[in-house]
Amino acid sequence: MSAPAARGPIVTIDGPAAVGKTTVGRLLAESLGYLCLDSGLFYRAVALATVRAGGDPDSPDDAVAAAHALRLRFAPDPSGRFAARAFDGDCDITQALFSPEVDGTVSLVSRIPEVRAAMLDPQREALREGGIVALGRDIGTVVCPEADVKVYLDASPDVRARRRWKERRDAGGEIDIADIRNNLQARDRIDSQRSIAPLQAAPDALMISTDDVTAAQVVKAIRASMAERGLIREA
Ligand code: DC
Repeated sequence: MSAPAARGPIVTIDGPAAVGKTTVGRLLAESLGYLCLDSGLFYRAVALATVRAGGDPDSPDDAVAAAHALRLRFAPDPSGRFAARAFDGDCDITQALFSPEVDGTVSLVSRIPEVRAAMLDPQREALREGGIVALGRDIGTVVCPEADVKVYLDASPDVRARRRWKERRDAGGEIDIADIRNNLQARDRIDSQRSIAPLQAAPDALMISTDDVTAAQVVKAIRASMAERGLIREA
């Protein structure tokens, strides 16, 4: 009997909102020929489903019912690299996942232990084959502590607020930077203080501050760490 095929490498990138996980994750995945999956989409989908069902995102009963009713699946974007399009059944919810309504409620649903429990298996299933860069808050600590390389990104609140503001402005939105900063701070507080799977770095994570470096420099540092571990040939 042949041995089961070994999975490909798994790289996790955790860190607070607007720290650059998506930019770095996509660049890294592209350079490696891996898929990039943002686990925040799982929780955003639960928040959206709860609100759309007329439920209260702060109510465990409502959020868990929405989580169980979700028929979430992802499809690659046209490049085939990023699991960037999300569907609930046949309904494309990609855009709705980034609405201000979801931004304002996603931390509430994601701090509910039963919601996190319901999202564990789908996330692990998505990582099963490896060859993937997974982004989130607890991927290296809870979802996949056995990942080959764990990265934790951080940056100052001002730098993160400016980045998110620019992103929204480039997408045609008009949002006050002070509102963004307040929203990020509120989410940081909820994400890092929740009792289950709080935002924190894995003890063996590669810690990188993205304040004064470009995304390409961060990718270079992660690739160097992969090369050191023999996962790729050169950085
Ligand atoms: O990365 P993001 O902004 O799309 O994440 C949305 C929310 O989901 C964020 O407030 C925290 C939550 N989240 C989480 O609790 N665990 C994850 N692994 C990913 C996201």
